Amino acid sequence: MVPPIKSQGIKTKLVPWIMELAPKAEGKWIEPFLGTGVVAFNSGYEKAILNDTNPHIITFYKGIQQGEITAPLMRHYLEQEGELLSKAGDNGYDHYRKVRARFNQEFSPYDFIFLSRAGFNGMMRFGKKGNWNIPFCKKPDRFAQAYTTKITNQVSTVSKIIQPEPNWIFHNKSFSEIIPLATEQDIIYCDPPYYGRYVDYYNGWTEQDERLLFNLLSETKAKFILSTWHHNDWRENEMIAKFWSKFNIVTKDHFYHSGGNIENRRTIVEALVCNFNADNIQDHNHGQKEKVPSAQLSLELT
Ligand SMILES: C[S@@+](CC[C@H](N)C(=O)[O-])C[C@H]1O[C@@H](n2cnc3c(N)ncnc32)[C@H](O)[C@@H]1O
Repeated sequence: MVPPIKSQGIKTKLVPWIMELAPKAEGKWIEPFLGTGVVAFNSGYEKAILNDTNPHIITFYKGIQQGEITAPLMRHYLEQEGELLSKAGDNGYDHYRKVRARFNQEFSPYDFIFLSRAGFNGMMRFGKKGNWNIPFCKKPDRFAQAYTTKITNQVSTVSKIIQPEPNWIFHNKSFSEIIPLATEQDIIYCDPPYYGRYVDYYNGWTEQDERLLFNLLSETKAKFILSTWHHNDWRENEMIAKFWSKFNIVTKDHFYHSGGNIENRRTIVEALVCNFNADNIQDHNHGQKEKVPSAQLSLELT
């Protein structure tokens, strides 16, 4: 299924690959970097801990979980705002600006969906003060009936997938408070901001963050899968050699359709790093599959 929120880092096309690798755990699905939620919603787990530092994502999904945000309410909202958008000056841009300014004051989850679905290229980006920072897609008829129905259906589907508390628990914390919650029975899927790539208010990511993530995942008793990038036409992700080559790695070419700058639009080789054997995976096409023996690793690092 496809969630109602959009973002440039959305893993929709990679979900089958991730789930093919993921062993069926007895315990919970733990996702410290939830983003749009597409991986968790397709994971099939009855118990989950889902987290993101972006409060708008968590408020939206908690609102659905608690029955405060519903498909009929979303339809009503989108019909109303869509009508105003279609009639607004500057080819709809006047109303987009109005909703954006309102969101940046009040942070309504409905306005969050409006902006996510009427913003340029389905991108999500927040400025220095945490303000929504994406221009209009320039389609005044964006919320025509078919599109409104599509979004409403996505809200309806998500509301059936999200389990009530305490089976599914949402948090708005740093990943470092979430990973230690995992037990041996759980599986952790991490999709952090990619080091050296896209940055915004909720997506700062330094080598220290990567090191902390590495330390926490090295210590966990749970199984984990980490999404990261392996290389592109220009360069390699230096974090692989620095940290992740101690674990098993599988790779796959992936094309990101949206993104601000030209480099982010090109094909990138995606990697899944895991702390268990990846023998079941068919789709693997670059780099090494087995972890580097530690003797060889220390030679490579010197
Ligand atoms: C690459 S996106 C995840 C995309 C997601 N897998 C999807 O398919 O939509 C990374 C997410 O991590 C969140 N994030 C960034 N820094 C974080 C941190 N320190 N702790 C927890 N979440 C963080 C961002 O807000 C963003 O939603």
